Amino acid sequence: MSSREGFKSELGALLAAAGSAVGLGNIWRFPIECGQNGGAAYILVYILCIILLGLPVMMSEFILGKTAKCNSAMVFSKFTSQPLWKYLGLIFIITALVISSYYAVVAGWTLEYLYMSITDQFSGKSSSDFQPLFDNFTSNPYRSLVCTLAIFIITHFIVSRGVRQGIEKYSKVLMPALFMAIIVLVICSVSLEGASEGINFLLHPDFTKIDSHITIDALGQAFYSLSLGMGCLITYASYFNKDTNLTKTGINVCIIDTVVAVMAGFIIFPAMFNAGHGISPEDVGPSLIFITLPNIFQECFSSVPIIGYLFAVLFFFLLLVSAITSLISLHEVITSFITEKYSASRRRAAIIVTSSYISLGILCALSFGLLKDFTIADMNIFSLFDFLSSNVLLPFGGLATSVFVGWVIDKKFQYHYLTYTSKARTWFFFFIRFMIRYVVPFGVGFILIHQFGFL
Ligand code: TRP
Repeated sequence: MSSREGFKSELGALLAAAGSAVGLGNIWRFPIECGQNGGAAYILVYILCIILLGLPVMMSEFILGKTAKCNSAMVFSKFTSQPLWKYLGLIFIITALVISSYYAVVAGWTLEYLYMSITDQFSGKSSSDFQPLFDNFTSNPYRSLVCTLAIFIITHFIVSRGVRQGIEKYSKVLMPALFMAIIVLVICSVSLEGASEGINFLLHPDFTKIDSHITIDALGQAFYSLSLGMGCLITYASYFNKDTNLTKTGINVCIIDTVVAVMAGFIIFPAMFNAGHGISPEDVGPSLIFITLPNIFQECFSSVPIIGYLFAVLFFFLLLVSAITSLISLHEVITSFITEKYSASRRRAAIIVTSSYISLGILCALSFGLLKDFTIADMNIFSLFDFLSSNVLLPFGGLATSVFVGWVIDKKFQYHYLTYTSKARTWFFFFIRFMIRYVVPFGVGFILIHQFGFL
């Protein structure tokens, strides 16, 4: 483990971490949550969750990774010999497996929709055509499977090339491309006629909607969006070089992630209001992205179809890139574990991870077609994996991380924080420590209690 590879530059490290954070969660989940739950009031609650709970957990994950210089599943045992913690790290591996399996299926849909938009298959279709288009695609066992497989192969290719030549190099290309795509799409969308109505809708604060449920929801969304609670950032921080400024990187990742999420709202809402669609309760998750939006893009630019065409291509490209950079980080969590625990080569480890992903991914991809009648607690496999990871495993991982850092290794953490965080400011350190000890465990504990219906 002596010649452990790391990121070459601070910018590479930042872009890789931002790549993990910015994903499907920002582009489709955040805008819709925001639109339905109080607009600017939700944004405010969300930003508070990011600053007060997300940032402290992110800093803790960074310190753990940078200090231990090992994969996330073994990180706890680097600091303590208590057997409980040795096994708790393994939850990160299970969580990564569960998330990736359904996440790659959605990433596969974005690939198919990118293909459809490039080959101009949306033009001439009316609003009623998009639902059957989506249903036919997802229930077709081959198309959905092929797309999911393609996503796993792309991810595999990048991860197996290594930290520098794979993850860092591709993040440095894909992330700027993603930022450019977002800027172009926002400019196009806000210059549409009637865009101000969409912007007002997004920015109009409706504080009456904010209650404990929405707050817990915003907290869960903040953790998901920042990729917290399962060791992605622990793994990446273990590749940071010794000069990487953790405070600066942490704050920048939070800013980039939040700005992208809000900008996604500025892409989606002006277009929806321009098409006279407004927002309805069914516009959630997949149906918004794959049924409502392709139609809306067409309608908005019906006078200049080529712009509508380019808009759709760029939008699905944006989704695909954001999904791939997030999947890379999920893949790396397990790849690094296998490499270090079993002294396997990276290529071998990546093959094992990709094969496991494919096996579970197939089940998720088929859960809209062949396996749609196979349900557990009224959920198909896809929804079950989504529920399990977002609502149970991730909050649990966040809770474990905060209790570990705040209580189990408090003294060591203080020492490492001040040693490893160049230019650490004392007030910032006390803020992080206070939050991680007293606020985060309760906040995340509430999410868990809430999920099990006790709140
Ligand atoms: N943050 C990504 C998104 O917003 C998804 C993601 C990647 C993730 N790695 C994660 C979520 C780790 C939770 C934990 O889409």
